[in-house]
Amino acid sequence: MQSFIYRTPTRLYFGKGQLGHLSEELAKYGKKVLLTYGGGSIKKIGLYDRVYELLDGFEIYELPGIQPNPKYDPSVLDGVKICKEKNIDVILAVGGGSVLDCSKAIAGGAKYDGDPWDLITYKAETKAALPIVDIITLAATGSEYDAGGVISRTETNDKTSYSSPYLYPAASFLDPTLTFTVSKKQTAAGCADAMNHIMEQYFCDDSTLLNDGFMEAGLRSLMVNGKKCLENPEDYTARAEMMLTCTYGCNGIYSLGNSESYWPLHGMEHALSAYYDITHGEGLAIITPRWMEYVLSDKTVDRFVKYGVNVFGIDSKLDKFEIAKKAIKETYDFFVSMGIPMTLREVGIDEKRLDEMAHHVAINEGLENAWVPLNEADIKKIFENSL
Ligand code: NZQ
Ligand code: ZN
Repeated sequence: MQSFIYRTPTRLYFGKGQLGHLSEELAKYGKKVLLTYGGGSIKKIGLYDRVYELLDGFEIYELPGIQPNPKYDPSVLDGVKICKEKNIDVILAVGGGSVLDCSKAIAGGAKYDGDPWDLITYKAETKAALPIVDIITLAATGSEYDAGGVISRTETNDKTSYSSPYLYPAASFLDPTLTFTVSKKQTAAGCADAMNHIMEQYFCDDSTLLNDGFMEAGLRSLMVNGKKCLENPEDYTARAEMMLTCTYGCNGIYSLGNSESYWPLHGMEHALSAYYDITHGEGLAIITPRWMEYVLSDKTVDRFVKYGVNVFGIDSKLDKFEIAKKAIKETYDFFVSMGIPMTLREVGIDEKRLDEMAHHVAINEGLENAWVPLNEADIKKIFENSL
């Protein structure tokens, strides 16, 4: 077991009715609020009006139009400008992970004199950030409980993870009823993303019985509840359990004391959504079984056996490789059953830019350190196998 330091300072308000605490939470930081949101879903579900009702007496400025795979230009830059010009006290991010990630980059940039891209690429250290409060409306990323965000820069095909202890939300509001309207496509993608967050921590060299059990239960919970959410989008219990399981995803709690895996699937997926602006969870679902097949070997098979037996209930008496291959097929079949397109071509990616993307991943994502190290040729092969 590895040594670690752990702290998550975010206050979680979980369950229906908790939005009643929004104004008291925001008031801790001041009266000038930057409200950030996406393409309009919060207006359709009545949440925008509800926020204004709850924040009577606050001075609210707005940054609308934050896109999935949030863009540095214009969203981050515009948000930083508003924060500086209006002397904003606190950011209220309302929407999915993209809105929250963008808000984290704005929060850092607002307290920095130079180009915020310096912070996102770690050329400069983040030494402060505006406080962030969020109302998360999509169960997926775990951004509501972690210190990171992912920002895209279209002109350079960059999709970069940015994290700093200053970027933990001060408080996150998680009301599962706000996720009832999430489309089947985004529900399935969110489920795949959260499963992937667990797998990125599960497939490593050094884990514990405790963490393995926690993560195996997380994966089973996501599969059972993800299906229920598709069947009945207003199943409160299923939406709630899915939401909480997703929330644990990226802040490290699933794998305290484990060795680092370097998140190879996210490293590869970042290129897919940077070059083609695809839905993150779908990109992950497509490459996951292909990566599993590629890294399965005498050295890794035991980990796949544990995964297959404990997550899918595969008979432990079978041959090790038979169990591993069944587990990979179960993973693939689950994503298919959620209606996720399972080839790159189906999401608009062909062979044309695979070389370029593999090169980009190899030089930017550090996958030579991954659980199973991957070089440029390995990455390209996994992309080809995903076509
Ligand atoms: O833009 P609006 O109109 O709000 O619509 C959104 C968007 O079109 C819609 N939506 C959100 N809540 C809804 C809803 N539609 C109906 N009802 C609701 N209640 O869903 C669409 C997708 O939203 P987005 O925020 O992009 O989805 P998600 O939460 O999956 O976020 C994906 C982004 O998060 C990053 C990904 O790379 C991607 O850019 N990630 C962030 C992580 C983190 N901070 O820790 C970890 C993840 O690995 C992930 O990389
Ligand atoms: Zn993810």
